[in-house]
Amino acid sequence: MIITKVNASTPYNVYIGKGLIDSFDLSPYAGKEDAVRKAAIITDEIVSPLYLYRVIKLFKKNGFEVCSCSFEGGEEHKTLDTVGKLLSFLSMHQLTRTDVVVALGGGIVGDVVGFAASVYLRGLDFIQIPTTLLAAVDSSVGGKTGVNFEGLKNQVGCFHQPSAVICDVDTFSTLPPARFSEGISEVIKYGVISSPEIFTMLENRTPIEEIVAKCVSIKALFVEGDEYDKGERQMLNFGHTVGHAIEKLSHGTVSHGNAVAVGMVVMTASAACLGYCTDDFSLRLSALLKKYNLPVSTDYTAADIAEAVLHDKKRSSDKVTLVLPEKLGKCILVPYKVDELAGLLGKGLSSSAEKK
Ligand SMILES: NC(=O)c1ccc[n+]([C@@H]2O[C@H](COP(=O)([O-])OP(=O)(O)OC[C@H]3O[C@@H](n4cnc5c(N)ncnc54)[C@H](O)[C@@H]3O)[C@@H](O)[C@H]2O)c1
Ligand SMILES: [Zn+2]
Repeated sequence: MIITKVNASTPYNVYIGKGLIDSFDLSPYAGKEDAVRKAAIITDEIVSPLYLYRVIKLFKKNGFEVCSCSFEGGEEHKTLDTVGKLLSFLSMHQLTRTDVVVALGGGIVGDVVGFAASVYLRGLDFIQIPTTLLAAVDSSVGGKTGVNFEGLKNQVGCFHQPSAVICDVDTFSTLPPARFSEGISEVIKYGVISSPEIFTMLENRTPIEEIVAKCVSIKALFVEGDEYDKGERQMLNFGHTVGHAIEKLSHGTVSHGNAVAVGMVVMTASAACLGYCTDDFSLRLSALLKKYNLPVSTDYTAADIAEAVLHDKKRSSDKVTLVLPEKLGKCILVPYKVDELAGLLGKGLSSSAEKK
């Protein structure tokens, strides 16, 4: 097992390994001997038949009193309505401030359950057990929780750090290959923003637990430096401005991971056009994305994408903050005029198409 510490305002450990959902020692989280701690284990309806029984068994074995429930997954259920149902469930089972909520599943479960835990009785401890690669390397670490609201993604939420993250990489074995690849897209992102070593690890098919641990340690650094996402943490959005635009234009038919893959290619090409990128690693980037069946081009035009970016909530005033690579492993944040974005993306799109 690999343990990575996240030194956020409330520090916690991320445990990464195999077989953890059957054998992890929860005693540091079990509370005092004289009071049995309740664990409310919450998952979605796909993960429930796969792993809930084993996780319930683990918590019971470690002395917890357990209650559990599942909700229907999907972005359309990442809502305040679902949060309300979870709060009713916690209330019905009389969870108190000394109890713990457990989010078992992908990023949607983590975000929704984390948000419910953050507001129930003004905040309960919660433990993340991510079961998608994306949740393991990204959403389970860093404390961002929330739901979609009035058609906008993650529009309502708060920062609520978990007490622990227990990542059993064996759970990835049941992920459809496309879902696994979506997670790889985020892994590659960490490589571009911070670590050429990740490219080597992926090219050499290093065991996934080592790759997850490397990504988590990078995310931990960004979270520690900028827990509330006002500066450097925005680096984690590399490929995401264009990615979100493509997701939006496709009405969700292009997955997040696929959209971010294209976004990374376009931003790398755009950085080269602007003269920021000194190291031409774009061929290596595209080859790695293709190796994991991720796309490197899109049919949407630069004008379509720029228009969709214009409506992105992360845009402040007339500028958008672009994350541009200088070389593999190092990016910078560049405020860029939104009305000049279509021109830049046009150059980026055609330059990346030429290299395809
Ligand atoms: N909080 C953050 O910092 C942060 C960061 C990135 C993304 N997110 C959020 O994460 C969400 C996406 O996360 P996701 O990609 O994990 O999506 P998800 O939670 O929808 O999971 C994807 C699908 O895989 C299924 N699944 C989960 N684990 C499985 C397993 N082991 N085997 C088989 N099927 C399994 C789920 O039921 C779901 O159908 C988005 O809502 C996004 O906004 C949050
Ligand atoms: Zn992402």
